[in-house]
Parts: sequence; structure tokens; C-alpha cells
Amino acid sequence: MLKLVIVLPTYNERENIQALIPVLQEQLRVVPYQAHILVVDDNSPDGTGAAVQSLMRSYVNLHLITGEKRGLGAAYIRGMQHALSVLAADVVVEMDSDFSHDPADLPRLLKALELPADFVIGSRYVPGGSIPSSWSWQRRANSRVGNLVARYVAGLYDVRDCTAGFRAIRSSVLRQIDFSTLRVKGYAFQIALLHRAVGLGARVAELPVHFVDRKLGESKLGISDIVEFLVNAWWIRLWSARTFIKFCIVGATGVGINLAAFSALLAWGVNSYLASPVAVEVSILWNFMLNNAWTFRYRPKAEHIGIRGLKFNMVSLASLAVTFGTFVILSKLFPDLPLQIDQLAAILPTTAMNYFLNSYWTFKWHPPAREFPLVDTPGATAEAVRNRSTLS
Ligand code: GDD
Ligand code: MN
Repeated sequence: MLKLVIVLPTYNERENIQALIPVLQEQLRVVPYQAHILVVDDNSPDGTGAAVQSLMRSYVNLHLITGEKRGLGAAYIRGMQHALSVLAADVVVEMDSDFSHDPADLPRLLKALELPADFVIGSRYVPGGSIPSSWSWQRRANSRVGNLVARYVAGLYDVRDCTAGFRAIRSSVLRQIDFSTLRVKGYAFQIALLHRAVGLGARVAELPVHFVDRKLGESKLGISDIVEFLVNAWWIRLWSARTFIKFCIVGATGVGINLAAFSALLAWGVNSYLASPVAVEVSILWNFMLNNAWTFRYRPKAEHIGIRGLKFNMVSLASLAVTFGTFVILSKLFPDLPLQIDQLAAILPTTAMNYFLNSYWTFKWHPPAREFPLVDTPGATAEAVRNRSTLS
């Protein structure tokens, strides 16, 4: 039987968790999983941990890990790592402990994994889903803007509710993610994790849910979470464009090399119409070496470096034609301007064309297609194997 682990982060949720666990256990009876609940409590001063420990006497499938409070994301990371490596989960569920997520939605969420989907989101922003009508306009705006930022800054265009905290995820997706590189401590974890999963090729499904306002206790979402969220969204944006950014940096050094070579040739009395193309070829070779060794380093390279070098040169020569043509025209049109300005203005517009051709031709590469089986067979650690046998 497939193993399910529901990760419940708690901070000062004693009364909520005491009520939630029995209700959740009822739902777990009807799902076709061997189900476990893992509470991740950050030493809540209200005694949440002790309350869970006493419930553990009644439920053998209830687990607790405790630690320092570092934020929701940090708690989820610890919880997920424990669910994967110690409890050997096949499916991990994220859920709030304050009844904002209805335990009765759980069977539907799990069923959607069979669509097939790898990452199922209980979504407030698909037709049929909702946020509480009692939410103030500030809280609505907060949530709406957060999702807009996630979609259009972090690039999660196709997902409506990127920040949702109610999710069912195949472990085979989570095992491909290096949690130590998710630099998030707070609520930004939700988009950071989703972004990684989407990047791996995980199939996302959104099911409508009604998000209910908590009746007991209060939200832990703070200003530092909002700041981290915005920083993280932009970081994701930059990271997604990292290859292009590196290509531009290489190109910028190439411009320096180009202009230096050009000036040197002019100083040696070489005709400017000869100095321009020669300077370009010097920078082409320079750019190729740097792009090959740095920008596109991560791409497996099927072809010989000589072939790649030749292609890079062909792309660059096409650019050279465009650049040289522009240079001639500019130098005729503006005879009073320094020739370096003409040369510079001629180089810049070809950058986009250059990147496109080099990325899709010279250094072409298709990311490997990944499969995320529902039955997860981890490269099991000894600990995982031991727990698998004691728990199953
Ligand atoms: N262990 C631990 N540590 N748990 C935490 C921490 C923490 O630092 N911060 C929050 N939690 C727990 C809470 O106890 C609760 O069970 C759950 O995480 C959600 O926290 P809330 O404080 O109730 O969050 P919310 O209702 O404001 O936010 C909800 O909506 C957000 C999007 O609008 C959650 O579903 C978020 O996950 C979601 O991003
Ligand atoms: Mn809440």
C-alpha cells in the first residue's frame, strides 16, 4: 500500500491541533493509503508539542518532530525531509493546522494524483474555490498581489494559487529537490517549492477549495515573510534568466576586448574598415571560450568543441555582417562621432539574435524528460528501510 504523510506545521496551535487530529484521522480511514500524520512543532510556548505527545498515545500513526522556530518554510523543509527519509512517504501532504483547510477535501486532493498529476494544489482561485467573505480588503489584496507576483515575477504563469498551503505532492518530485538550496525560511517556501517542481517538469493540478478563516489563535504571517516573499520572487526571476545574464556578461567583456583590439589596430595605423572586422573576430573567439566554459557549462555537449566553435563563429559572422553593415552606415551618417561609438551601437542590437541562435543551435540541449512515479522507490537509507518495516 502507498504511504501517505500529512505534514502539519504548528506554532501555538494547541487547541486547533487537539481538535484537528481526530477529525483528520476519520478522513484517513477512507483514503487508499497507509496514512501518517507528522506534526512539526517549533517548541510552541502554548504546549502544542505536549498536547500532540499525549495524542500519540491514542494514535500509532501520529508523529512529532520539534525544533527552534525559524519560520513556516523552515518547518516544512524539516518535515518533508523527515517524511521522505524516515517515514518513507510516497505522497506528502501540506496542510494548515488551524482548520483553514477542510480535512474533508483530502480524499479529493489525493484522488487528483491519479489524473495523473504530480503536484496537486487545493486552490482558492480556480472556479469553485473561495477565500473567506470576512477577509478585509487588505488581506484580499495581500493574497491577490502575492499571487500576481508569483505568477508574473517568479514566472509561475499557469498556476492560479501559487501561495496555497494545501497540497498533495508525489515524493518522487520532492526527492529531486535539494532542500538545502531553497533559501527560504518563511511563507515564501510555497512559491520556492512550486517553482522547483514546475522546473523539474511536474504536472500541476488545481482543485477548488473553500479557505476558511481560523476560529482560534492567530495568523503567524509577518512583515518579514512578505519581504522574503518579494525578494525570493525576484531571485527566482533572476535565476531563471541566469543563462541569458551570463551570456550578456560575457558579451560585455567581449565588447571591451573588441574595443581594445579595435583601438590598438587603429593606433597601429590599420584602416578602420579592416580594424572593425578583425576586432570582432578577436572578441568572437574570446566569447566562445567563455560561453563554452561558463555560460553553457551545465549543458551536456554532444558535439566536438571544434564543431561548436565553428557554429559559434557562423552565428557571430552573421552578426558581424549585421554589425559591420550598421557600422558603415553609422560612420557615414555621423562622420563627426568617434568611431568607437559607431562600433558600440552596431554591436548591441545583435545580442538578442546572437543569444537565440547560440542557445538553440550551437549549445542546443533538451532537459531530460523526468517521470514521477506514484510509487516511490527511494535510494533507501538504512534508517528508511528500518522504519518502512516497522511502520508497514
Ligand atoms: N512549525 C511552524 N513554524 N509552524 C508554523 C510557523 C512556524 O514558524 N508559522 C506558521 N506555522 C503554522 C501555523 O501554526 C499553521 O498551522 C500553519 O502554519 C499556517 O499558518 P497561519 O499563520 O495560520 O497562516 P495563514 O492562515 O496566515 O496563511 C495561509 O495562507 C497562506 C496564503 O495566503 C497558509 O495556508 C499559508 O501556507 C499560505 O501561504
Ligand atoms: Mn491560518
